Amino acid sequence: MKKVIALLLVLIMTMSLGACGKEETQTSGGGDKTGTVDVGIVLPTKDEPRWLQDQERFESVIADTDYTVEVLFSQGSSATEKTNVETLVAKGIKVLIICAQDAAAAASSVEVAKEAGVTVISYDRLITDTEALDYYVTFDSIAVGEAMGQYLVDNATGSGNPLYLYAGAATDNNAFLFFEGAWNILQPKIADGTFAIKNSSEALALANQPTLTREQMSAIIGQITTNWDFNEAKSKAEAHLTSATAADKGKVYILAPNDGTARSIADVFAADADVSEYFITGQDSEIASVQYVIDGKQSMTVFKDTRTLAADAMNMAVDVIGGKTPATDTTYNNGVIDVKAKQTPIVVVTKDNVNEALIDSSYYEASQFTGLE
Ligand code: BGC
Repeated sequence: MKKVIALLLVLIMTMSLGACGKEETQTSGGGDKTGTVDVGIVLPTKDEPRWLQDQERFESVIADTDYTVEVLFSQGSSATEKTNVETLVAKGIKVLIICAQDAAAAASSVEVAKEAGVTVISYDRLITDTEALDYYVTFDSIAVGEAMGQYLVDNATGSGNPLYLYAGAATDNNAFLFFEGAWNILQPKIADGTFAIKNSSEALALANQPTLTREQMSAIIGQITTNWDFNEAKSKAEAHLTSATAADKGKVYILAPNDGTARSIADVFAADADVSEYFITGQDSEIASVQYVIDGKQSMTVFKDTRTLAADAMNMAVDVIGGKTPATDTTYNNGVIDVKAKQTPIVVVTKDNVNEALIDSSYYEASQFTGLE
């Protein structure tokens, strides 16, 4: 009996270890397969199409490399992220490419890597409040926000146009950069009366301020955050429309922080009988959102070519392993240090240039969509 209990215990322990372990994708380049890994990649979640795009692009770059690479997903958990980093460090990685779940919480994970002599590259999202960071590979996130703001401005005439603001997760430094960019463009048009903010008392109170401090942005983002969560975006939009009057609706303008949340928010606005027309932003050019753009259900999406970002990050890693200093073109302050960064430009996609931006560039195939002209 004792033996059976002991066996059961071992079984349970093994199972639970497996359950709390990382979400794993083992991918290798052409290097020797002796169990060691040269480059470790940690991505935030498989549950958002954005990060599956990155995974796919990494896989094609990895196929061309002579090094062994392993990609792990953190599934929205900073604890899993830390385990992933520790696992990769134990496998002897020389470079860690990490897109953090939570900018500040990730500091302790990268410190573990740094102490083991690993070069750390922050991928897409800047890890904050740590010196244990060597490089940052990113899109121009301020430009992403500015493109969103500009799209709304370009499509507004007259005054008093209802404006609904939404933001990403406050734990993601990018949410601040996107909002900052959008505010750069929208604020003058809020101050001159073109737009009237309908869903944020915090933003309204700061409407005359062209530049916001981090604390002021925190206050606004705290009110209008979607946490990058489709359901949270949906319920927030529902609550906003429930408390808005018919006069706050009609032709409306919506700053949505990314494609996933844009589709949720757009569906809510589309279903409201008092909303006659809406303009809504997005980013990532996720397949579902590109279809929404073609169908006129989402107005625009910002295309962030993950092929470039993945290639930049891998090239950086290869340079580091080869003893070369990677090329960078700017720096980002993470609250403690200026991190050397390589920045990639973005492209605005609307119904008018879907073909040119996404099909002609071979990012997607026309057969993945319906109604494409
Ligand atoms: C990325 C976006 C993404 C969002 C939610 C941000 O850090 O830059 O592309 O939509 O996270 O995952």
